[in-house]
Amino acid sequence: MIYSRITGTGSYLPEKVLTNRDLEKIVETSDEWIRERTGIAQRHVVADDESTCDLAEQAARRAMEMAGRRPEDIDLIIVGTTTPDQVFPSTACLLQQRLGVHNGSPAFDVQAVCTGFVYALGVADQFIRAGSARCALVVGAETISRILDWNDRGTCVLFGDGAGAVVLEASDKPGVLSTHLHADGRYENLLSVPRGVGRGYKDMIAGEAYLQMKGNEVFKWAVNTLGRIVEETLEKHGLEQSQVDWLIPHQANIRIIQATARKLKLPMEKVVVTVENHGNTSAASVPMALDEAVRDGRIQPGQLVLMEAFGGGFTWGSALVYF
Ligand code: ACO
Repeated sequence: MIYSRITGTGSYLPEKVLTNRDLEKIVETSDEWIRERTGIAQRHVVADDESTCDLAEQAARRAMEMAGRRPEDIDLIIVGTTTPDQVFPSTACLLQQRLGVHNGSPAFDVQAVCTGFVYALGVADQFIRAGSARCALVVGAETISRILDWNDRGTCVLFGDGAGAVVLEASDKPGVLSTHLHADGRYENLLSVPRGVGRGYKDMIAGEAYLQMKGNEVFKWAVNTLGRIVEETLEKHGLEQSQVDWLIPHQANIRIIQATARKLKLPMEKVVVTVENHGNTSAASVPMALDEAVRDGRIQPGQLVLMEAFGGGFTWGSALVYF
């Protein structure tokens, strides 16, 4: 039996920081409102000349260094992103070139908004289990700041930019126990960027393709759905909540994270939280939180980690992983 295991993690944040106080100068808001409703204190945003692939490259290099892997070892690259550098080539192809992976192995993006990394991990796990890849680079990278309406206080205070990556390798010992991927396209009007190549292209090239969200409705869906996916994942393996060492939730809002932890009866000490300093970085949030907890020594070899995410689509998913 072939399993996939995470052998390296990495992350990268752009240098520029926007605090809540900075946002008070841009829109009608307050540090107090943002902290109370979301738990966010600051977020990182890209400079004008930085792109998603720039962030992805740094995160990928760090993950490869931890795994002790060289470019020629990588035989699959999947990037979860909703903010690709270009319409094409995919960010994964651009990243392949940057890293000097010139062995003709496949590289492609998956687009599942905030669930993008969990989707990418699920796809890479299937490739490895099927014997189609042995050493995959799986990345979540976003520059959501580029698609925000900086006049809309209901959304612009929530998001940040960043990238996280893992190296996922074939192993005869279990690492990824299972991934669970879901989508329901009926809710496109609650969370979307309703412009693109096929619809509203003129608005898009005029720079008016912004993220729109009915925040309080998305909130309710996120809490209910994340509770369900966590139960589904544990039930599949006959595991109790108490057997999970670490929960790594998508970092959208501290209140969503706390509500999910409460449903799971998991104490907050077992939940990795980065939303205060990162904001919601969409597909980058889970791998960045994972990397932080691996590097500061919270996540130890042999521990059981549950990752979960929810995002536009709606999409949602989870991954249960032994370290
Ligand atoms: N500063 C001050 N006031 C604000 C701000 C702000 N930044 N934003 C909204 N308000 C006001 C509203 O106008 C409203 O005022 P009103 O009562 O006078 O009309 C009031 O605050 C309450 O607004 P709500 O939207 O009801 O506030 P809520 O408590 O729901 O918090 C939030 C809003 C933080 C957006 C929350 O709903 C949330 O986190 N939603 C989920 C986000 C999420 O998880 N998204 C999924 C992933 S994202 C992705 O996939 C890309």
